[in-house]
Amino acid sequence: MPLVEDGPVGRSGELARIEALLDRVAKDHASVVVVAGEAGVGKSTLLEAAVDRAAQRGFAVALGRCAPSQSPPYWPWPRVFRALCGSTGPFAIASKGRAALFAAGADCLEQASAERPVFIAVDDLQWADESSLALASYLAAAGAGLPIGLAFGVRDDAGERSPPLTSWLAELPADVVHLSLGGIDRSAAFDLVRSVLGRVSRLPSRSRRGSGRSSPATWPV
Ligand SMILES: Nc1ncnc2c1ncn2[C@@H]1O[C@H](COP(=O)(O)OP(=O)(O)O)[C@@H](O)[C@H]1O
Ligand SMILES: [Mg+2]
Repeated sequence: MPLVEDGPVGRSGELARIEALLDRVAKDHASVVVVAGEAGVGKSTLLEAAVDRAAQRGFAVALGRCAPSQSPPYWPWPRVFRALCGSTGPFAIASKGRAALFAAGADCLEQASAERPVFIAVDDLQWADESSLALASYLAAAGAGLPIGLAFGVRDDAGERSPPLTSWLAELPADVVHLSLGGIDRSAAFDLVRSVLGRVSRLPSRSRRGSGRSSPATWPV
């Protein structure tokens, strides 16, 4: 559960850059943003807010996540294609090989983007396998000139970066937007604490004290 319900606190600069990217995408300028930072700094929260903003603007949106440690091949992508192209998606023809799968993935994005702009977020790229990264690169290149935005979340910790991910990051197009998240500033941290305390004080007093049984109280954060 998110700490606050109204989206990220203290990320107005990053959200403004994402809004600017959505403006560009809506004008048929395919764009890529990479959100990097250490674990817990707020990458997923920002990506989810970006997806929400895109949806509010009428984009077709999809959010995929890599599975912890080492994702199986293509792990985040079927969910993305399902969201954009219905239940079959390009993976229905995966048995025909990688080239056919990639081409079908690009077709899916092209068809979806013919209806309205598309925004795709793929989170936790530090766990992506090589095939998922290759598909991400292919789709980014195939989407040039189309209203397609791609956002990727990745941990900053070099120890978490596999050699394929390091090369993938190095080969991103020059115009990729890099958002390197640090901690939020003091006044945003104050807002965050106030918001969390506000939520706790709205809980029934029994929930705040715990159930009275020996198990510890759970807190909605
Ligand atoms: N800017 C923020 N405003 C409010 N809550 C935040 C913010 N950044 C992170 N959080 C909260 O902190 C926790 C960790 O954030 P998360 O986005 O999952 O981090 P990461 O994806 O970088 O590991 C979550 O509970 C999230 O709701
Ligand atoms: Mg995360």
